[in-house]
Amino acid sequence: MIEFDNVTKIYKGNIKAVDQVSLTVPQGSVAVFLGPSGCGKTTLLRMVNRLVPITDGNITVNGMDTKSLNEIELRRKIGYVIQSNGLFPNMTIEQNVTIVPNLLGWDRVKQRDRFNYLMDLVGMEPDQFRNRYPHELSGGQQQRVGIARAMAADPPVMLMDEPFGALDPIIRTHIQKEFLQIQQEVQKTILFVSHDIDEAIKMGDRIAIFKDGSLMQYDAPTELLAQPKNQFVQDFVGTDRSIKSLSLYTVADLLEYKKPKPVKKSSFNLKVDLDTSLREAMAMLFNETEQELLVVDKNNQPICEVTITDVQQYLQENTQTA
Ligand SMILES: Nc1ncnc2c1ncn2[C@@H]1O[C@H](COP(=O)(O)OP(=O)(O)O)[C@@H](O)[C@H]1O
Ligand SMILES: [Mg+2]
Repeated sequence: MIEFDNVTKIYKGNIKAVDQVSLTVPQGSVAVFLGPSGCGKTTLLRMVNRLVPITDGNITVNGMDTKSLNEIELRRKIGYVIQSNGLFPNMTIEQNVTIVPNLLGWDRVKQRDRFNYLMDLVGMEPDQFRNRYPHELSGGQQQRVGIARAMAADPPVMLMDEPFGALDPIIRTHIQKEFLQIQQEVQKTILFVSHDIDEAIKMGDRIAIFKDGSLMQYDAPTELLAQPKNQFVQDFVGTDRSIKSLSLYTVADLLEYKKPKPVKKSSFNLKVDLDTSLREAMAMLFNETEQELLVVDKNNQPICEVTITDVQQYLQENTQTA
């Protein structure tokens, strides 16, 4: 659990970057810090591992005041991932991932086991990448290695500052999905910075929206979309809130609500599986001239058809928006 208690940061020159922020991030959940550039997200994150000193207030991690801990110790307990992954160019992938275990004096076998485990976890073949250098990897692969490295010493807490910000949209969607799968397995307490409402909705158990260093609203995505507390939140969340809330639901949700139509056509250009979000399904239907999607199961066997009308009806009846 991470607790921010009246946290304020004033930089030199009297710049108030964070203004009396209080919020609690429960154990094993993801809180997304969301807001426009300059609203204090990075500052707030970096106060947790004391890369930025706190001006006023307290931050506790699992009940311990961060001020009372040794900085080096603290940073070893907290994984940190940044947009430009921060891999060391002159170290191999294995050396990069095992930096902290190495500092902690783990023996070689344990370090190697950990490397193999983490690479598997982020979907990369350990032996294929072990001796390569960061510049030999794609952006998406580097970012995965960055995540593996942050998790190396199994820290209970992870700070992630726009970790997927530099990736192109398709790879980004893919890695977001993978990240959520990993999180289901590892259940870390995560602070995740983003300026993208769609990403926040997808990734966050809770979303904190900031404006000029002040916390505007801290709620679950569904709450935030349904009941923005003020004009700023409403504008930030966007006018197409009902469309955005579609990211929260999957094809499986739709089928639970509506009896599926049997498959009539013999061929489909568009296929989705049960885990596809309705937002993605909708986007596919908008982008193509097709009228329906074929829903397939894990073995690629057809289950039913879904039309754009089905999605629209679900949207109208299941998303409470103004
Ligand atoms: N080291 C610094 N010294 C002075 N001002 C800073 C420093 N770092 C950030 N700021 C200012 O603090 C505010 C918040 O910045 P930041 O936390 O980086 O916001 P965000 O991550 O939301 O874009 C901005 O006005 C920024 O210019
Ligand atoms: Mg930032």
